[in-house]
Amino acid sequence: MLATLTLMTPGSVAQGRAAQPDSGPWWRHAVIYEIYPRSFQDSNGDGIGDLNGITSRLDYLESLGVNAIWLSPVYPSPQVDFGYDISDYENIDPQYGTLADFDHLVQEAKKHNIRILMDMVMNHTSDKHKWFIESASSKTNPKRDWYVWRDGKGVDAKGKPIPPNNWVSLFGGSAWQYDPKTKQFYYHKFYRQQPDLNWRNPEVEKAMFGAVRFWLDRGVAGFRLDAVPTLFEDPKLRDEPVLGGTNAQGDPNLDDIYTNNLPEVHDVMRRLREVVNEYPGDRVLIGETYLPNVQELDKWYGGAKHDELQLPMDMQVGFINKLNASLFRKRIQDAETRIDGNQPLFVFDNHDNRRSWDRYGDGIHNEAIAKVVAVTLLTSHATALMYYGEEIGMVTSTPKRKQDVKDPIGITGWPKEKGRDGERTPMQWDSSKNAGFSTADKTWLPVASNYRTVNVKVEDSEPNSLLNWHKKLIAMRRSDPALRSGKQIMLDDINPSVLSYVRKGVNGGPSVVVALNFTNQTQTVSLDLTRAGVTGSTVKTLMTDAPALEGTSSLRHLTLPPFASWIGSVQ
Ligand code: GLC
Ligand code: CA
Repeated sequence: MLATLTLMTPGSVAQGRAAQPDSGPWWRHAVIYEIYPRSFQDSNGDGIGDLNGITSRLDYLESLGVNAIWLSPVYPSPQVDFGYDISDYENIDPQYGTLADFDHLVQEAKKHNIRILMDMVMNHTSDKHKWFIESASSKTNPKRDWYVWRDGKGVDAKGKPIPPNNWVSLFGGSAWQYDPKTKQFYYHKFYRQQPDLNWRNPEVEKAMFGAVRFWLDRGVAGFRLDAVPTLFEDPKLRDEPVLGGTNAQGDPNLDDIYTNNLPEVHDVMRRLREVVNEYPGDRVLIGETYLPNVQELDKWYGGAKHDELQLPMDMQVGFINKLNASLFRKRIQDAETRIDGNQPLFVFDNHDNRRSWDRYGDGIHNEAIAKVVAVTLLTSHATALMYYGEEIGMVTSTPKRKQDVKDPIGITGWPKEKGRDGERTPMQWDSSKNAGFSTADKTWLPVASNYRTVNVKVEDSEPNSLLNWHKKLIAMRRSDPALRSGKQIMLDDINPSVLSYVRKGVNGGPSVVVALNFTNQTQTVSLDLTRAGVTGSTVKTLMTDAPALEGTSSLRHLTLPPFASWIGSVQ
């Protein structure tokens, strides 16, 4: 059914064929690029990025080679959580433009063979959303049950209402907010301005799926589902087990078994998948799925039934946060062999975590390490998810003073938790004012101080730059059949210093071999391809950042300088 529909859509066929010599849905081979719209390109000089700004940078995105853009939320929002507090699911925030600007972006992106994915926040709305305003208006309002309202446990000695249980917000303090008007508490996993929807009420699902259809009808290629494991809470409101110690916000550490990853969520995912399946063109569901292990990850695909998300994010690989070859080997292998043949999605960077440049860098070899990270991501069998600025090596620029912090968790958590501003600074395009991001006198977050040397324009002109490294990798991944769809097979089980693997040739074509030195010491390896069932012996270097390895012709005694990357072809 799906395949037939796909063929009936001229646009999707044209787009698909241009980039896909072999079969399968586009997202299996894609590089998806996350844009934080506030920080990508400002087109009207107010210091805040916008949709027309993104449209003006499509040539760049096409030259980088990305297949799709995931836009962090651009819906109307009070911007308490910079868009993750939505007050209208079917419009665009005037800060970012208009619905017409959005449609224009979708159309123009299509001309560049780039699809647009929206961020769908289903766990909570803004407290300024009309649904919540109605819900809060009285205990008998028809929308009362759209959110999670509960009586407290009476009052304390000072007369202060006691919340229903011990649940804490991920963003600090009790997860329960008292409403003096109706004398009940409402639940919020995130900020108190982000009340959780009650997914046990079928009307909530209906309304939210309506919003999903609104954007599918407008031509979006799919969604990234925000914080989606948190949709359900324990109806009995049991206290969560206390683990001991406190977190960065000063709250007790809890085991979130009653507010996270409840099994009920999978029924919703299956029904959501059915909605998406009604549309032609291989629309895709991506999940923000921080999960404890690969078994839990597999459930988000619907396991062997493949009937939930096509691409729940695998956070087990990209957030290891140290170059440990053994751990990478194990987790990549898990993704390759233990998710029922589903397609993995790897990611190293996003708008919630310090940039991979700093999480993996050792302060001395950061550029070589960033190249290792790029190879790990872009030569893997997984679909690749990137974050704007990762390709040029943008650094985390954490505010130095509390009064400069914009992200509320950085204000309440200061100085232990400084918030997420550091990984959200404006994109660095060139060496001009505000790095070419904006003509404003002041941008919403300051541009990182290194922008004169770390920017697109400078790196474009340096053949060995991190930007050109990414461009070459992505181009190779698009054109080389083994890199596009070959199996990923590890070349040893034990080497603690070098990660090496094969992407197996397709239909007897050449295989691709990758060897990455994960340490600051020179390492020599002899790679035996027979365990991967590869018999060829003619070796040719495809890419390396170690000049001495350019002439490599044998896989015996391959000597890799500190943090060197080598990619070769074998026939
Ligand atoms: C997700 C988003 C994060 C946001 C939170 C609440 O984790 O990535 O930025 O603050 O959900 O919506
Ligand atoms: Ca929830």
